[in-house]
Amino acid sequence: MLLTAPSPTVDPLWQLTADCARDTRPDRLDLIVGVYRDDAGVAPVMGAVREAERRLAERAGSKAYVGLGGNERFTRMTTALLFADAGLESRTDGIQAVAGTGALRLLADLLAATGPDRTVHLGTPAYVNHQAILTAAGLRVATHPVRDVLTAMDQARPGDVLLLQGCCHNPTGWNMPAPMWDELAAALTRRGVVPFIDQAYFGLGDGLTEDLDGMRRLLRAVPDAVVAVSASKAWSLYSERTGCALVVSDDPARRGQARALLENIARASYSQPPAHGAAIVEEILGDPALAAGWHGELSAMRARLTTLRDGLAGRLGLPGLAEQRGMFLTLPLDAAAMRRLTTEFAVYGLPTGRINLAGIPAPRLDDVATAIRAVTG
Ligand SMILES: Cc1ncc(COP(=O)(O)O)c(C=O)c1O
Repeated sequence: MLLTAPSPTVDPLWQLTADCARDTRPDRLDLIVGVYRDDAGVAPVMGAVREAERRLAERAGSKAYVGLGGNERFTRMTTALLFADAGLESRTDGIQAVAGTGALRLLADLLAATGPDRTVHLGTPAYVNHQAILTAAGLRVATHPVRDVLTAMDQARPGDVLLLQGCCHNPTGWNMPAPMWDELAAALTRRGVVPFIDQAYFGLGDGLTEDLDGMRRLLRAVPDAVVAVSASKAWSLYSERTGCALVVSDDPARRGQARALLENIARASYSQPPAHGAAIVEEILGDPALAAGWHGELSAMRARLTTLRDGLAGRLGLPGLAEQRGMFLTLPLDAAAMRRLTTEFAVYGLPTGRINLAGIPAPRLDDVATAIRAVTG
């Protein structure tokens, strides 16, 4: 019976990653998955994370179950960091999740359970996993060009959902301008549409405050929202699967119900989230000196991304590329050109033209620019 299901397709992103790992050319560059790497090609453990881990190991805490909601202090501190607004924090409840993906899925399940007829409006090109997560939760998806989000809201019905990335849009690098966030908040409220914000790349665009400003403006203006937070990128905690699923609502009863539902959903899938990554973030955010160190390291990562992006834009004579933000850069290359980049130059990116900027060692910027020029046109 099991084998009668249609064969599942492997996510092309992970298929490419496997191909790249098998490529023995010494100059091969993996620019596929969004992982921050340094010039040595290593995804480093941040200094603040190392120090937090040292302290945690010294205290040798318990490995007892953490409960369905996971680390409450982590979720509260992360909410305070991201929202920076006591009024907004007091309207928020939520639980720790298994990274950003887990938070997206918990919230998608919550939205499906509370509104089976909802349509989720999704801007395209979208993060590769968004549609799969929404569909797996049983939600209907309608797509629109990502920058035409205001027009798309004209088609939305009350109870529908708009899935938005909080900043540094993956893959386009687009940051919605502040006035547009305000206009969107008004449109969502007018039409009774719930914003579902995926917040993954905060701190990697223009700065924490700048990157979070649009989301904060929107959340202050709407009655209800849900937010999926990933700690993977900002703390380089990818494999620790750390994040949280947040529900913002004016109505305390709705918040409480939503939280209970999130815990039920968690209980029926993985029961409880892993403890280590959340304990690390809790340790960092709970110590001003460690938090200051982390802020500094995040700024350095952001500066490196800017140098790489500007460096590539300058070498390619494409100043428009410098306007993108975040870990990725979408090149004006089609799938055939991206394939040539791989076969002729051992540079691996996605067929859509997206590359992980952070995967380029600075000394190899010239090589990458030369390869891109060679496959262009
Ligand atoms: C836009 C976006 N959302 C969510 C995620 C998921 O991140 P996590 O590794 O925390 O599950 C990613 C990861 O690449 C992403 O790009």
